[in-house]
Amino acid sequence: MILEINHLNSFYGSSQILFDMNLKVDKTESVCILGRNGVGKSTTMKSIVGLLNPRNKSHIEGEINYCGKNLTGMSSYKIARQGIAYVPQGRHIFPTLSVKENLLIAQRKGVDGNNEWTIDKIYELFPRLKERETFKGGRLSGGEQQMLTIARGLMQNPRLLLLDEITEGLAPIIVNELKNVIQTLREQNVTILLAEQNVNFALGTSNRTYIIEKGTVVYEGETAAIPKEVLSKHLGL
Ligand SMILES: Nc1ncnc2c1ncn2[C@@H]1O[C@H](COP(=O)(O)OP(=O)(O)OP(=O)(O)O)[C@@H](O)[C@H]1O
Ligand SMILES: [Mg+2]
Repeated sequence: MILEINHLNSFYGSSQILFDMNLKVDKTESVCILGRNGVGKSTTMKSIVGLLNPRNKSHIEGEINYCGKNLTGMSSYKIARQGIAYVPQGRHIFPTLSVKENLLIAQRKGVDGNNEWTIDKIYELFPRLKERETFKGGRLSGGEQQMLTIARGLMQNPRLLLLDEITEGLAPIIVNELKNVIQTLREQNVTILLAEQNVNFALGTSNRTYIIEKGTVVYEGETAAIPKEVLSKHLGL
């Protein structure tokens, strides 16, 4: 097991957002946290990477086990060093640096010395980034910027890649391109945890899904076997 979250409660100030969340990600899985606006998807991601801490007037309770270590209470800097790459919601790139510079400053060896994700391999996966190599990040389209954020995550040679709503605000044709990218990453055995509200994207990119509502898991199972009634009940389809 790469990640195992047990009885996670997360708080901003005194307001509790996550309630007894339980979630697992096994090696080479692609797991999706699926849910509507404001249910706690990003809070789950932030809890994992140590961004809920007293400095941010927030905290977590419970256990987040990652590769045999408990991450609870560990600093976000130290957690990143354990091989978790986090792509936050909202396409954060460096707008004044070129595409190539954005990639190079993200580059680091994996925890076990793994250096598989070279810039050439990134360009194979994202030919568009190669074409735009010298462009400033800020000149890219929304879809290209999102590709760059994913590419920056991969440049860290992660053991676990967290992707928070990478489809948000993108045209269907771009969402489809991203779906192909995730499918290719799965073929290459990259372990992924996605947060999504785009159901079709979730269905096409994950093998297991946790549906969350009001900060807690209301359904979990194989993505391909989620009953239609469940999707309509929790996601309004
Ligand atoms: N910094 C914060 N301080 C206080 N409350 C917050 C903070 N960030 C998020 N919340 C609240 O926590 C709840 C869950 O937010 P979260 O961002 O985790 O949802 P989400 O599922 O990621 O939603 P979205 O699909 O809009 O990204 C919401 O009610 C939100 O208002
Ligand atoms: Mg969110």
